[in-house]
This record gives sequence, C-alpha cells and structure tokens, in this order.
Amino acid sequence: MNELAGKHIVLGLSGGVACYKAADLCRQLIKEGATVQVVMTEAAEQFITPVTMQALSGRTVYGSQWDSREPNNMPHINLSREAHAILIAPCSADFVARLTQGRADELLSLLCLARPAASVPLLLAPAMNREMWSHPATQRNLQQVARDGAVVLGVGNGDQACGETGDGRMLEPHELVDELVAFFAPKVLAGHKVLVTAGPTFEAIDPVRGITNLSSGKMGFAVARAAREAGAEVTLVAGPVHLDTPRGARRVDVKSALEMAAAVESYTPEATVFIATAAVADWRPAAPSDQKIKKDGTGATPSLAFVENPDILATVARSERALAGQLFCVGFAAESHDLLAHATAKRARKAVPLLVGNIGPATFGQDDNALLLVDAEGHCELPRASKRVLARQLIEDIAARCR
Ligand code: C5P
Repeated sequence: MNELAGKHIVLGLSGGVACYKAADLCRQLIKEGATVQVVMTEAAEQFITPVTMQALSGRTVYGSQWDSREPNNMPHINLSREAHAILIAPCSADFVARLTQGRADELLSLLCLARPAASVPLLLAPAMNREMWSHPATQRNLQQVARDGAVVLGVGNGDQACGETGDGRMLEPHELVDELVAFFAPKVLAGHKVLVTAGPTFEAIDPVRGITNLSSGKMGFAVARAAREAGAEVTLVAGPVHLDTPRGARRVDVKSALEMAAAVESYTPEATVFIATAAVADWRPAAPSDQKIKKDGTGATPSLAFVENPDILATVARSERALAGQLFCVGFAAESHDLLAHATAKRARKAVPLLVGNIGPATFGQDDNALLLVDAEGHCELPRASKRVLARQLIEDIAARCR
C-alpha cells in the first residue's frame, strides 16, 4: 500500500553503525510512495557511502552546507522547506546533543535548526550503545529536544553491534515506517482508550486437543492499529494468532473465551470504546479432560458435552458505563448469508449502537474484506478493500459517533 504517497521526507543519517539499516529504511519509504532526500553527516559517511543512499533514493545526497548545487547556496533552507517531515535515523547521542544546543556548523543540524518548526516535524530515531543511551546526559538531552518540539521515537532492546545487550538499538526500518505513517494519521481518537478483541478462541477438549475456528485476527489487529494511529491508547486482547503486535498497542494474549472475558473485564473500566472483532466460541467442552483422551481399541468414540460461553460483548454492552454513554460498544458479525438481516438482528440482540457485518468465508484469513455498518438509523457499506483501509474507515466512523 502507498501509505506515504505524496510525502516528501528528508532522511538524515548521523554517525552510527545503524546506518546500515538506513539503506533499507530508504527503500521502504520509497516503496510506500514517499520521495526521500538523504542528508548525511560526515560521521555517517564513515558507516555507509552516499553512493548507496543516492542509488536507493534516486536523488543526489547532501552532506555539506556549502554545497554549490543549490542556486542560492542555501541547502539548509531549500531542503527543509520542501519536506513534510525530517526523520533522523540513526540519530546518534552526539547528534541529540547538537540539537539541544541548536548547533549549526554542519548541514544536518543546520537544517533541523532552520526548519519551519510549525509545519515541518522533526522525528528522531535514536541509536547508540546502551550505556550511552542510559547516561543522564543523553536522557536529559532527549527530554530537552522533545520540549523543543522534536518527536523522539523509541529504541529497540537486544544485541548491540558492540557485543553488549540492552536498550539503544535503532527501531527496525518497518517499525520506523509504521511510526511515520502513524504520525501523519489524523488524531481523531486522541484521548480515547480503545479496547479491541481479536482472533479466535481455543476451547480445550484435553491437553492436546481443542475447538477453534478459522478467524485469523487480521481484521481486529488492523482495527487496533488504526485506532492507535488515530491517537488512541489501545489494548488488544488477542486469541491464539500468529500476528505481530501493532506498534504502540498493549497486547494481552488469551486462549479461551473465559480468559478473553476475564481480560476484557479487567480493561473495560478504563476504556471509552470497545470493539469486539473476536470470533468467540459459542460453546466450550463442559468437562475438559486433564489427560489426553485415548483410543481404547474398541472403536468407541468419546462424547462431548458443551456449555455456553459468556457473551462478552453483550455483557459489556449492558454495563453501567456503556448504558451511561461512557463506553461506545461495537460488535462484529460473521455470517454466511443474509448479512443485512442477520446483522440487524444481532445489533438488537447485543444492544450495541453499531454492528459491523461481514461474510465469514470471504474474510477469514484474507487480507481484504467488505463491511456492512448497521446502526439504529439504517446501514451503509464499506466496499471491498484491504483490511487496513477498512479498519481506518471504521475508526473514522466510530470517532465521528464518539464526538
Ligand atoms: O453471537 P455472535 O458470535 O454471532 O456475535 C458476534 C459478536 O459478538 C462479535 O462482536 C463477537 O466478538 C461477540 N461475541 C462475544 N462473546 C461471545 C460471542 C460473541 O463477545 N461469546
């Protein structure tokens, strides 16, 4: 998807071994539709050549404030005025220190200082050794640059090039792309706390077997991601799925419907929006066996008795805060036919203001989907698109209802 179409990014590299990741970052930004102007400090050129960055960005790299290619000889003005954002990745400890002082003796710090701060955001992706990262001077400097208006992105934790392990790794290129996309998204849910359930549940029969369904969790994860991009604090209660946690979301992994119900119960008191995308099993085995149920060789088959699971959504929708309008509840319905009739009936049964219908076999495991939004007034369709696009449209719709 062209998530950054039309955006012009100045990608600044300061000196650090994470410069090797900047090459991939540049590619990924361009893949997402951005145009990228690379600016490198002298130290960065010790780690990666401008030739590589030029080839990947398709533009000559700038490195000097005396670059005579610019007719007015003011690359710091021209480059910063063209940008929708300046992203420094990697941003070294030294570069952070330079920013705190407002230094202007080399092109990259100069253009950060000269940028129109109100219209050109500055995002920093720090990268350094863990001791440098945790040093009070660095932390003090980071707080200062944040106060001065820079957006300080996080760091990763793990093995470092120096052989040590800890905080200070630069975020991975795909994480930085996600951060940038999130940064540009309109903050229509700022101040909201959104609780999302996603994926299937797994109801144990015995320690090695269980009952589950074909939900992949992709729709719910996309909804959680879109909510976070829209500025909400997001808690994602996920059934057993193999999906990466959307950046910035708090993830709570559960297996069974009962575990999902307990997790939802503990996070609803603080939530302002509850979106139940999970395909919760309607029933669970009444008495799961502690030991594996064995074949006895006679051909006899076990018989399973079931009990009904609690309806998580209906329970939340009946809660005091939901009834008082402090918690907006959204349900999903996966149907095989007669979508409008079933979704309308389900909305009434669950007593939720908004019910989102989709055709189960056409959505489970797929990357795209089509949604039918049903409320008290009627219904509207969100035509087939990627789950990512649909999730954004749904979040915009929910935000408008919560205003
Ligand atoms: O009743 P049905 O499973 O079709 O309803 C679907 C909606 O209800 C979804 O939003 C789903 O997450 C929610 N649900 C629930 N707890 C259940 C069953 C469904 O929260 N036990």
